[in-house]
Amino acid sequence: MKKRTTTQVSREEMEKQAYFSRCIAEKNATFAAGKGRKPVAFVRTFGCQMNEHDSEKIAGMLEMMGFETGTGFEGADLIVINTCCVRENAEEKVFGHLGALKGLKRENPDLIIAVCGCMTEQPHIVEEIRKTYRHVDLVFGTHSLHVMPELLWRVIDGKTRVFEISKTDTEVAENVPVKRNGSVHAWVTIMYGCDNFCTYCIVPYVRGRERSRQPAAIVEEIKGLAEAGYKEVTLLGQNVNSYGKDLPEPVTFAELLDTICENTVIERIRFMTSHPKDISDELIDVMAARPAVCRQLHLPVQSGSTNLLRRMNRHYTREQYLERVRKVREKMPDVALTTDIIVGFPGETEENFEDTLSLVEEVRFDQAYTFIYSRRVGTPAAAYPDQVPDDVVKDRFERLLALQNRISREINDGFLGATVDVLCDGLSKTNSERYTGRTEGNKIVNFTASKDHTGETVKVKIDSVQTWSLEGAAVED
Ligand code: 5AD
Ligand code: SF4
Repeated sequence: MKKRTTTQVSREEMEKQAYFSRCIAEKNATFAAGKGRKPVAFVRTFGCQMNEHDSEKIAGMLEMMGFETGTGFEGADLIVINTCCVRENAEEKVFGHLGALKGLKRENPDLIIAVCGCMTEQPHIVEEIRKTYRHVDLVFGTHSLHVMPELLWRVIDGKTRVFEISKTDTEVAENVPVKRNGSVHAWVTIMYGCDNFCTYCIVPYVRGRERSRQPAAIVEEIKGLAEAGYKEVTLLGQNVNSYGKDLPEPVTFAELLDTICENTVIERIRFMTSHPKDISDELIDVMAARPAVCRQLHLPVQSGSTNLLRRMNRHYTREQYLERVRKVREKMPDVALTTDIIVGFPGETEENFEDTLSLVEEVRFDQAYTFIYSRRVGTPAAAYPDQVPDDVVKDRFERLLALQNRISREINDGFLGATVDVLCDGLSKTNSERYTGRTEGNKIVNFTASKDHTGETVKVKIDSVQTWSLEGAAVED
């Protein structure tokens, strides 16, 4: 098979987008002069960190076009819904919102409604929006993100509905403007797409084949972030361990991490998601050797049953997963481990499920993100005949949750009285008298302090613990 090589979207194409962005900015300036305010754009995001970061790019492009960032649907002149389709409930929520937006469009016919992201890479969803949600003006998929200025211009100038679902998945776009949500932590996409085709998962169909960014572009971005005062980055990809295989000059993920550590002064580096089949000794060694790389690993196991893992097309056995965990802990005894688990995959027997429970007991994850299996049209598992009845799945899900909650709580109990280093993100969103931040192991810590430590690493003494977070007070105030 011919090796596929990833290329960059051409400079001409990006200049063309900058041109359309200026066209919209001119229209928006006229709007602002007439109304005494800038037009407001509100972006609503569903799904994973990759989508959150895509929305930061959408917000960056909209800012260049002269939009003000809105905080809700009401009063917005442009609404962008960035969708997720990994599970059915995410899709249902989007359709719920789309239905509700009909009224807003009736009140304000000039309102522009755009839907993008993973859902809109599926032809049957695009058809449903086209036919049933006629108040939606613009639909574009994940591969068309960087051409949003042109698409939006076609809606504004042509006063027409636009549907753009490109299937080009051999390119990556650089230099898309970004409006970041935080000032301490930043997301950095290092690769797009996924080639794994786990049998339950829709991602490879909607995000396309794996495409890596050039190491130099990633290093430049992180350098810029460090200069702007950011302290922590999370490198994003569906399977970061296969980073670089598609580059004209292949690079491993471990090499990329080393290069980032050598060439930037960023204090903390995290990454997600790692596939257990691809996590190399080389990577574990770099993690252990580099102080900037956080000793924290998200390693989705999905199931503790080798039989089920085979049916999921995961390419590792229970024993191989446990061996990787052992290796990681041998090199980094204090590593924090998190995972994803699916309950109720077709054909899951009580015995298979008990294998998952026993694996969870054995590994003792700091946290597990647990999901009820959701049938996704077009994936192989959707056609498997032995779907598990809802009541059985629900019962298993609750048993797993109870077990993991007990373990997370026990691990957190071990922090009582300890002093931990916390990178402060700012004031807590739920309690304006407390600050919030994260440990190297990515545990959330809410704490009191006599002054604002945003962007600093603070020593915090833990005085109480919850299942999901730690509480305490800064000691070197
Ligand atoms: N049903 C339930 N969970 C799923 N995930 C992916 N696809 C599905 C599905 N069809 C979960 C996996 C993955 C996480 C991001 O979402 O656990 O690791
Ligand atoms: Fe989906 Fe598997 Fe790819 Fe993760 S590795 S995005 S679960 S196909």
